[in-house]
Amino acid sequence: MPGYFDGKVALVTGASSGIGKQVASHLVRAGARVAILARNRNALEDLAHQMGEGQTVVCPADVTDPETIKSAVSVALSRFGKIDILVNAAGILRAGGFLQLSELEFRRVMEVDYFGTVNCLRVVLPHMVRARAGHVVNISSLAGKIVFPGSSAYSASKFAIIGMSNALRQELKPYGIGLTVVCPGYVDTPLLDQHLQSVRSSKFFQMTRSYSADKVAIAILNAIKRNKRELILPGSLRLVLAVQCVAPTLVETLSNWFNGGVPELVSHKGRDSS
Ligand SMILES: NC(=O)c1ccc[n+]([C@@H]2O[C@H](COP(=O)([O-])OP(=O)(O)OC[C@H]3O[C@@H](n4cnc5c(N)ncnc54)[C@H](OP(=O)(O)O)[C@@H]3O)[C@@H](O)[C@H]2O)c1
Repeated sequence: MPGYFDGKVALVTGASSGIGKQVASHLVRAGARVAILARNRNALEDLAHQMGEGQTVVCPADVTDPETIKSAVSVALSRFGKIDILVNAAGILRAGGFLQLSELEFRRVMEVDYFGTVNCLRVVLPHMVRARAGHVVNISSLAGKIVFPGSSAYSASKFAIIGMSNALRQELKPYGIGLTVVCPGYVDTPLLDQHLQSVRSSKFFQMTRSYSADKVAIAILNAIKRNKRELILPGSLRLVLAVQCVAPTLVETLSNWFNGGVPELVSHKGRDSS
């Protein structure tokens, strides 16, 4: 992608692992300077070392803590002078039957995935608005479009990201700021580690596993260049989304089957002790 990212500055959250790490690496290779944000300072320093320290700045922060985001953004600004691109890739997954998950787990997913995105936007957008230019990438999920059994907490946060993003996109347009919301199916990253067995054995994972974080990152860079409003990966799932509009029960039945069935509503441990 010659040219487009040359001289641009990006802030990438969730850059210590998975999709965020790959997006940061591809942006540097494409000529951008990148502020990399996550909690794990060592992982960020390793990445900065690999990518070249002149092109990157390490910004350790917790997306649930607005004060640490403000410090991270001021480090990025004092080093690079501006932020042209914000990629919100920090996220966690909590999966399980509705009553298996604690209230704390429901709140934590919302805090990191949804409010983490909101928090970063609230700190970075004023700078883009002043510059009257910029691009935001918010990573949602296919789980923000199609509901899978066992994903009630995660899906809620990902639907929230899409709703917020679609409203925000309209507000950003007059300022010349674009917004892409990204909805990938399964991507083979550490996020899936704790659910590895069930996820990897699902038919859906086997069909879409070719989507590596690397491939998702390349698609995200292309989407930024083209100011795409939404990126569904794999693109063929657009057909499923169209069918869902007219036949939601059919798509729910298929998604249960593809994902290997419905998880227990209540954990066995919970039932034994009740
Ligand atoms: N993998 C998939 O199948 C898939 C599919 C659809 C959508 N997504 C979404 O893609 C995004 C990236 O996920 P991934 O698959 O790349 O997962 P990952 O490899 O586990 O990476 C998650 C990143 O988020 C960071 N993070 C987590 N909590 C944080 C916090 N409180 N503050 C700052 N950073 C935090 C982690 O860094 P630290 O631990 O160092 O803070 C890490 O860099 C997530 O929003 C996820 O929901 C993933």
